[in-house]
Amino acid sequence: MTAPSSATRRPSHGNVGSTFAQTLFAGPAERKLRKTLDAGLDRVEDVLREQVQYADQVAQVTTSYLLGAGGKRLRPMLVLLSAQLGPDSENEGVLTAAAATEITHLASLYHDDVMDDAILRRGVTAAHLRWSNSMAILAGDLLFARASQMFSYLGDEAIRMQATVFERLVLGQMHETIGPAEGENRIDHYLRVLADKTGSLIGAAAEYGVLLSGAPQEFRPALSQFGEGIGVAFQIVDDVIDLSPSSDKTGKLAGTDLRAGVETLPVLLLERRALAGDAEATDLLDRIRTRVAGTQPGSVDQSFAREEAAGSSDSAEVDAIIAELREHEVSQETVNAAESHVQQAIEALDPLPSGVVKSALREFADRLINRDF
Ligand code: FPP
Ligand code: MG
Repeated sequence: MTAPSSATRRPSHGNVGSTFAQTLFAGPAERKLRKTLDAGLDRVEDVLREQVQYADQVAQVTTSYLLGAGGKRLRPMLVLLSAQLGPDSENEGVLTAAAATEITHLASLYHDDVMDDAILRRGVTAAHLRWSNSMAILAGDLLFARASQMFSYLGDEAIRMQATVFERLVLGQMHETIGPAEGENRIDHYLRVLADKTGSLIGAAAEYGVLLSGAPQEFRPALSQFGEGIGVAFQIVDDVIDLSPSSDKTGKLAGTDLRAGVETLPVLLLERRALAGDAEATDLLDRIRTRVAGTQPGSVDQSFAREEAAGSSDSAEVDAIIAELREHEVSQETVNAAESHVQQAIEALDPLPSGVVKSALREFADRLINRDF
């Protein structure tokens, strides 16, 4: 097995999280923190490179594939930032947790792309298309095993948190797959799925920083709640970005979720309007369900893939429906919902002392949903 050569865009590998650190603070008082976070992220990159090493060539190539494709390193950044609340913020345990959190996230992406029939991830061909479903799932398993080993060196509480996160990631994905129970509100169900499949790991990232830096342990619930809230907001914003026409910006095909038949918040809000008697919403919803869902190219419907490549009228219709949803008021309502989750997350930080770390956490939350780093 040789190193992947993808025809698709490969973003320059670099510590994208450090872009955040570089631009976070303008004032001189914050420069020290900025430098510390920057240096910490560089060290996390080293740990990631050291840890994702396998003697087996097949394991090496597949597991390092998405790591080498870039990524924002938001979770490690959050571990490092919350660790600044403690006196021992730069110890090896903090760095290990930061890297292991990113590896856990990577593992989940390999699995997620198989389940979503995704085409692109981080600007490169999804691993299951590069190799096979089985290989992508196994690469994710290997990475998850490695992250668990790393956490096991950090003590009982760290590994217990990782196990809890793993359970919630799987439950979130499972509930997303089976959909709401009979009579369950679809929007409530959706938000619970986001809290589990995305909020849990980001909440743990924020909490690990407190756990491992000697910070007052009573801050843990605040950081956990903060991370979970911004994680939900992040995923809600992702639902709007999924509708974005530019795969250069998203690293993914526009409408990947819709094409896979996953009804995200814009669609659920459209359904709520349709159920309330809005005819325009009913019509758009109907076209999403009958013309867009189940048309993901490359797997479920190969003939669609060929039509798409040829620029057929069917693919133009799908693109137009996705654009219509993007322009609809429900997309703005979705952004508003993300902002409200960020607001609640910031309120969770109330027990923390005022200062540079608290301000940076607030700014991290704002920038996360504006995706300006
Ligand atoms: C992305 O959601 C998916 C997740 C955040 C979590 C997926 C969790 C699992 C597959 C189970 C856990 C497995 C392991 C090995 C830890 P999305 O599809 O909405 O986002 P996307 O647009 O980035 O694909
Ligand atoms: Mg996905």
